[in-house]
Amino acid sequence: MRGYLVAIFLSAVFLYYVLHCILWGTNSYWVPPVEMKRRNKIQPCLSKPAFASLLRFPQFHPFMCTADFQKIASSYGSNKLYLPYGIRASEEYFQLALSKLQSCDLFDEFDNEPCKRCVVVGNGGILKNKTLGEKIDSYDVIIRMNNGPVLGHEEEVGRRTTFRLFYPESVFSDPSHSDPNATAILTVFKPLDLKWLEELLTGGKINTNGFWKKPALNLIYKPHQIRILDPFIIRTAAYDLLHFPKVFPKNQKPKHPTTGMIAITLAFHICHEVHLAGFKYNLSDLKSPLHYYGNATMSLMNKNAYHNVTAEQLFLKGIIEKNFVINLTED
Ligand SMILES: *[C@@H]1O[C@H](CO)[C@@H](O)[C@H](O)[C@H]1NC(C)=O
Ligand SMILES: *[C@@H]1O[C@H](CO)[C@@H](O)[C@H](O)[C@H]1NC(C)=O
Ligand SMILES: *[C@@H]1O[C@H](CO)[C@@H](O)[C@H](O)[C@H]1NC(C)=O
Ligand SMILES: *[C@@H]1O[C@H](CO)[C@@H](O)[C@H](O)[C@H]1NC(C)=O
Ligand SMILES: *[C@@H]1O[C@H](CO)[C@@H](O)[C@H](O)[C@H]1NC(C)=O
Ligand SMILES: *[C@@H]1O[C@H](CO)[C@@H](O)[C@H](O)[C@H]1NC(C)=O
Repeated sequence: MRGYLVAIFLSAVFLYYVLHCILWGTNSYWVPPVEMKRRNKIQPCLSKPAFASLLRFPQFHPFMCTADFQKIASSYGSNKLYLPYGIRASEEYFQLALSKLQSCDLFDEFDNEPCKRCVVVGNGGILKNKTLGEKIDSYDVIIRMNNGPVLGHEEEVGRRTTFRLFYPESVFSDPSHSDPNATAILTVFKPLDLKWLEELLTGGKINTNGFWKKPALNLIYKPHQIRILDPFIIRTAAYDLLHFPKVFPKNQKPKHPTTGMIAITLAFHICHEVHLAGFKYNLSDLKSPLHYYGNATMSLMNKNAYHNVTAEQLFLKGIIEKNFVINLTED
């Protein structure tokens, strides 16, 4: 009799667990559905960075939290803009994707250095044959982007990664590139990008229609490593830093900042000192290598209708000349 009761009790517990997992859409392990909030333990850096004059809202928290992203969107006007610069008409996609993440924190809870020295590592071919790896690894914060590999390029670009910005068409899917210490940041350009993340994290079927290139079908990052970049950061890059027009002529595709430019804008919001490596486009040299990896050449960038590389080059040249940032790949 007692044995039966124990068996019934155990199966009830098991059934409860299974139902819970189905209800909360977690296919592998059960995560308590806590409301994701930011923990503001880090003291702000008290001395002003060299680039302070570039920013209107230097204290802006770059990662979205389920608890307050809608409130923040209304106070910064992001509720009035469509993606990629706002959340209008995509609120539910943001909510669903965010509900699958486990943190919106900026830095590790044991990190108590308020003034950070950061390096943003672009994927430019200019990093080839330069041995900047050790230098890059010496920074507090190392920001990388897309599928710019560390593996096999340690001498050129270092080993450590603090943040890696990505989008569905550009993220690693090969587990050899895993890094448990990295925080992976989704930059959202379209509602589908959020749907893609949500589907990957719930283990659902991935719809690959509507992407400009086949998106990754598996993620090498765990939910606790992933954040969603607030579109306000991309808006700041486009309007405040690059001065893109708000409306483009009918015969022109709207231009958006490159991931590199978005990464630099992120760095301005979280760092005290920003150094750059691997940022160079020479559009008149079509045969020069585009990246420090692979075989793509500059001619690929030249055809790009989505970005305005000229505007970005002028901006970078300006901030290097004013000593707002330091160009590590200077000869
Ligand atoms: C890098 O060095 C290798 C071997 O020394 C050479 O073949 C290659 O052309 C160099 N690449 C660049 C971009 O300078
Ligand atoms: C990750 O962090 C651990 C502990 O700090 C360290 O030993 C390891 O080398 C780091 N790995 C990478 C790839 O940075
Ligand atoms: C760009 O490449 C062209 C052709 O190789 C060269 O003449 C020019 O000096 C380069 N410009 C810069 C800024 O490096
Ligand atoms: C780049 O080109 C070389 C030589 O043509 C080839 O062996 C290599 O596989 C190519 N790499 C990539 C990533 O396509
Ligand atoms: C790119 O930016 C430059 C500099 O701001 C501007 O003169 C040019 O018209 C822009 N080109 C396009 C296609 O938007
Ligand atoms: C950094 O310096 C190198 C070498 O002088 C130059 O080619 C590159 O364009 C510079 N980067 C930027 C973003 O100006």
